[in-house]
Amino acid sequence: MKVNGQHYRTIWISEEDSSCIMIIDQRKLPHHFVVEEIRTVAEMVTAIKDMHLRGAGLIGAAAGFGIYLAAVNASPDEAIQEVIQTAGHQLMATRPTAVNLAWAVHRQWDILKAENNREVIIQKALETARIIADEDADACAAIGQAGLKIIEDISLQKNGEPVNILTHCNAGWLAFVDHGSALSPVYAAHDKGIPVHVWVDETRPRNQGASLTAWELHSHGVPHTIIADNTGGHLMQHRMVDLVIVGTDRTTISGDVANKIGTYLKALAAKDNGVPFYVALPSSSFDWKIADGIKEIEIEERNPDEVKFMEGLCEGEIKKIALTPGGSPALNIGFDVTPSRLITGLITERGVCQASKNSILNLFPEMITHG
Ligand code: MRU
Repeated sequence: MKVNGQHYRTIWISEEDSSCIMIIDQRKLPHHFVVEEIRTVAEMVTAIKDMHLRGAGLIGAAAGFGIYLAAVNASPDEAIQEVIQTAGHQLMATRPTAVNLAWAVHRQWDILKAENNREVIIQKALETARIIADEDADACAAIGQAGLKIIEDISLQKNGEPVNILTHCNAGWLAFVDHGSALSPVYAAHDKGIPVHVWVDETRPRNQGASLTAWELHSHGVPHTIIADNTGGHLMQHRMVDLVIVGTDRTTISGDVANKIGTYLKALAAKDNGVPFYVALPSSSFDWKIADGIKEIEIEERNPDEVKFMEGLCEGEIKKIALTPGGSPALNIGFDVTPSRLITGLITERGVCQASKNSILNLFPEMITHG
């Protein structure tokens, strides 16, 4: 996507130094656009854990590049396969819910384990990291085209009146390598001249909606309005939402969806009001080994300070302020699970399917043995 007229992906290899990975430091958005250099696996671990970068697809791509950094920095007296194993475990321990991370590490491990030659390992690790990133961007572009049809149909029903789409958290291009999942159909519709308007859930506690989704949509010229997280139900009751599209960090083979905390409540409100509720995802966000999302998906618990404090721009500087009484404890659960029965459909790179095992496997028949 473009930032000030220049095309960016969210992660790329430095043109000057192929052992340096470049990322956009998302902690600084929407106020400052800062590019950060990542040179070691330890720096990549910190970047993922402390959310310099975030979002399911992007942390998968970052893990792919993290393994490459481990290989390229391994000293000649170290056993390179052990270095790669250790790096993979360190990367996977950063954020447990998004399956893309472990998926990317295992993909690198599977390809590299048969190799003995150092130079070949480094070259293959780089190649695989690049492929993971390219596939993520391509899948997200295809999701845009698959979801465009849904928005187009609603636009026709509304005789060209703007289609009001509610989204939660940030599943835009910043959460992937490019294009995004939930926002990809929105960009595709906007670029095609279909009038759209996005209700942006602020998404406490880290406000990915208010800071990142709003910044993306504003940069691309897509009409949008930021709302407090609890507003969606009211808007749906008053027919001000035509459809909901969210992303996911992990979706089970039966179509249960883990996504940013608060998604489940939006799905309940959508069901109660007959509003279509779609989840957009590349196939790298399916966890083919599990069926019951509530019982089987590990939910990340984050630092309670994210609830107790907030960061924002104050007199030109980013400052942190306290919101709560110092003695009150807080709980910070990162994700919740929306059961498949509340989901109208899944928008994937191969098209739209129902949130059910049969329908998912119909689109991805090569995964049948895993089911
Ligand atoms: O904690 P985050 O910001 O990494 O959470 C991930 C998300 O942005 C959302 O849950 C998103 O909707 C799915 S990831 C594309």
